Amino acid sequence: MKNNRTYKKIAIITGAAGGIGSAIADKLIEDVDILILMDINRDKLSQLMKKLNSSAATQIIGTLCDISDSKSVNKELEKIVSEIGLPNILINNAGIGGPFHRLDEVSDEEWYQIINTNLKGVFNLSRYLLPHMKQQGYGRVINIASVQGYLGAALSSTYVASKHGVIGYTRAIAAEWGAYGITCNAVCPGYVDTIMGIQEEAISGHKQSVISKTPLARLAQPSEIGSLVKRLIHDELFFINGSVITIDGGLTCHVGIT
Ligand SMILES: NC(=O)c1ccc[n+]([C@@H]2O[C@H](COP(=O)([O-])OP(=O)(O)OC[C@H]3O[C@@H](n4cnc5c(N)ncnc54)[C@H](O)[C@@H]3O)[C@@H](O)[C@H]2O)c1
Repeated sequence: MKNNRTYKKIAIITGAAGGIGSAIADKLIEDVDILILMDINRDKLSQLMKKLNSSAATQIIGTLCDISDSKSVNKELEKIVSEIGLPNILINNAGIGGPFHRLDEVSDEEWYQIINTNLKGVFNLSRYLLPHMKQQGYGRVINIASVQGYLGAALSSTYVASKHGVIGYTRAIAAEWGAYGITCNAVCPGYVDTIMGIQEEAISGHKQSVISKTPLARLAQPSEIGSLVKRLIHDELFFINGSVITIDGGLTCHVGIT
């Protein structure tokens, strides 16, 4: 067992096959005993499994699951708990942006899809796993929120609302479960070079605009988010609980006038 620990570190990453999720998987693989990669996209998940399996000593398990559906989440997690062990690290990363719509253009369907994935997904995984972490007296939860979890943005109101909710859950979980050795923190990226970020051709003007407003004059690389998550779950940083940590190259630190 790694670092002479007496218990196994079993981590679950949701949305593991995406840009940031796979970068987090790349970083955590060195530190955990079992890595469970959860995603809704079969093809992307199997590609990631092949890539990670070729080099890893850590046991890697892929699980197809729609995190917005509590029945599927409960069923998959029940299987994991009975066949693999008790997860004690949860990275709530899966999320969707949805189309750029003004609030009055948002349909009920679109609203539920974004809220159910970004916010209910965090609830579904946390509700099942927190009691199991309590049983171990140890747990780490990292929620991948966004700078839009504490700032507004035009044409993304549902996403903004969902990520504000994710930060709310972060603080509430930290307050409610800290006494059991469980910490919960939020990581808030600015713009990251992923498909969901702004690397798509169609909005490349947006990308240049973000870069020009960022003091470090670039987007984040997914690996930088992975590195932050890796450090945050380290035992030496146990006292960080309920924190909301921005990683945005300075984008949100100024009002942008000069
Ligand atoms: N990319 C950015 O600029 C940026 C900025 C701030 C925050 N974030 C947040 O980071 C997280 C990851 O974003 P990304 O850029 O890697 O996006 P991505 O689109 O590359 O990856 C998201 C992954 O989540 C999976 N997924 C979507 N819905 C799911 C569901 N219902 N159940 C299970 N899996 C599901 C997708 O299949 C995909 O693999 C998201 O929560 C996002 O809101 C991203």
